[in-house]
Amino acid sequence: MKISLKIIASLLLATSIVSCNNSEQKKEGNRGALASNAAEKVYVAPGEHDEFYAFISGGYSGNITVYGLPSGRMFKEIPVFSQFPTNGYGYSEETKPMLNTSHGFIPWDDAHHPDISQTSGKLDGRWVFINGNNTPRIAKIDLKTFETTEIIEVPNSAGNHSSSFVTENTEYVVAGTRFSVPVPQQDIPINEYKGKFKGALSFISVDPEDGRMSIKFQLMMPGFDYDLSHPGRGKSHGWFFFTTYNTEEANTLLEVNASQNDKDFIAAVNWKKIEEYVNNGGGKKMPANYAHNVYSDESHSATSTMIKEVLVVDPLEVPGAVFLLPTPKSPHGCDVDPSGEYIIGNGKLSADLTVHSFTKMINAIENKKFDGDAYGIPILKFEDVLAGTVKQAGLGPLHTEFDGKGNGYTTFFISSELVKWNLETREVIDRQPNYYSVGHVMIPGGNSAHPFGKYAVSMNKITKDRYLPTGPELEHSAQLFDISGEKMELLLDFPTHGEPHYAAGIPAEIIKDRSQKIYKLAENKHEYATLANGDARVERKGNEVHVYMTMIRSHFTPDNIEGIKVGDKVYFHITNHEQDFDVPHGFAMIGANNAELLIMPGQTKTLVWKPKQVGVWPFYCTDFCSALHQEMQGYVRVSPKASNIKLSWSLGED
Ligand code: CUA
Repeated sequence: MKISLKIIASLLLATSIVSCNNSEQKKEGNRGALASNAAEKVYVAPGEHDEFYAFISGGYSGNITVYGLPSGRMFKEIPVFSQFPTNGYGYSEETKPMLNTSHGFIPWDDAHHPDISQTSGKLDGRWVFINGNNTPRIAKIDLKTFETTEIIEVPNSAGNHSSSFVTENTEYVVAGTRFSVPVPQQDIPINEYKGKFKGALSFISVDPEDGRMSIKFQLMMPGFDYDLSHPGRGKSHGWFFFTTYNTEEANTLLEVNASQNDKDFIAAVNWKKIEEYVNNGGGKKMPANYAHNVYSDESHSATSTMIKEVLVVDPLEVPGAVFLLPTPKSPHGCDVDPSGEYIIGNGKLSADLTVHSFTKMINAIENKKFDGDAYGIPILKFEDVLAGTVKQAGLGPLHTEFDGKGNGYTTFFISSELVKWNLETREVIDRQPNYYSVGHVMIPGGNSAHPFGKYAVSMNKITKDRYLPTGPELEHSAQLFDISGEKMELLLDFPTHGEPHYAAGIPAEIIKDRSQKIYKLAENKHEYATLANGDARVERKGNEVHVYMTMIRSHFTPDNIEGIKVGDKVYFHITNHEQDFDVPHGFAMIGANNAELLIMPGQTKTLVWKPKQVGVWPFYCTDFCSALHQEMQGYVRVSPKASNIKLSWSLGED
């Protein structure tokens, strides 16, 4: 035991020495003329705009961060699955329903794979989707407002990892379970895993007009782990591909027991065929309980609806819809090239990359060249579907993206490098070290038929010495490469927030002109909006008090309120009357057990405050909105529970 540990330790040490050497060489190589050239390539002059947006997953922050490329500047953090005190998302009464689930209010998740909506295989810039991994959910962010506007929970799933990738017309956003579970959930011994646990692959339809999501069907697959997925496109449009591991169906000591088979599978799913089956009445409705949360820009409010059934499809009911492609060795990333011909399995315990051919797969299916089955699902022969392998490309391949010029770019976690290779010849063209231990790589449009092959961003798991130290906890590190030439050129390092798993990039011109600047006050349909200053008021209903408040530079109406009592529940419904771009106001109340609110022009938000102590308590605006920002304040007088001070309020100068 001691010896083998020593060997492993020395191997690890060797790797780190190699990467240190690389790093030294690279630093030397990048000095001088080359470095100044790189600086010019990422320099976005003051007042100028970046060429691309990058939506980077925040991992355990639960959110998405928005960056500009090539500058690496962060523009915004968009709250998705986590409460966000910066603007009150998940704290305001309007947004709390967004975080409702069948497990109750869940204020956090692990956000993984953003993907931008597409039309005809091209990024259309309408929405970005992202999956919540821990409590399975798919969220949709509207790229007009850069706000989360819809979250749907995914039942019968756990560790929602092979998600949230879209088909080429955004017909579906797809979610696959990483952990198989009993379906329906039940109290059974864990060692009865094999055969009893199921892996649900969920196809969530997206309304082409308003983007509304709905689970069309769940395909109930064998109890493997479904790791990642990508859609077919072009010739393979209508198919979806999922990597699997633990095809051993082990339920303990997975790091050993799930690495026994030389090959696991890529599951190829003909969703068009299943859609047709379902449209003709196929599938079974099973009881379920999952939340569907929708935010409206008109009412500035979210609603949460619990849905009580889901349509499930047994793959054996739809012959010819599901096949298994043997793929070495516990494949992680499952990536489809822009033409739709090549399906790349990134076998994370392998040194070679497996490239499957869609054409060969279809031929093998038509000629019924099967090599047994798994729970009745036909297994194709490895040799019959293999286009070829990229030999000895690196160690620990994870993910591949494409430049649209015939090349793949694969990340290698163990050898810590980005490798460029030719899709047809499968020869390695270039390799660049990454600092350090790269996970995902992103090329804008890299998961579409039309990538923009100018930049690649690698998202690294380890930061170590790249920036000034910040104690034991470091933000992860991203690196920007220029991939426009034959060889890749490292341009920039920049820190990211949370743990990025994947990102989605898009040319800024596709979305920037549609970006909304304000909410029109005249269109505000919030139940508690105060559209005219004269309507500002305070109403008591038992121990509930509703404050109808307005805000405009630099005043709250009302600003002083008396007649509130200990034990009341005070709702501040505040409407921002500004109609200028970039003039939010904030609202903070002493002792409130939530967050401040940041309220955009024309928007209404609600904060609940339960006064616990007698006294006169101030509130104020948290956003420096004008020269008189410090004057934007007011008081609430709180009297004893039994007092009979009359409710009154001051309308100030209005
Ligand atoms: Cu309004 Cu500061």
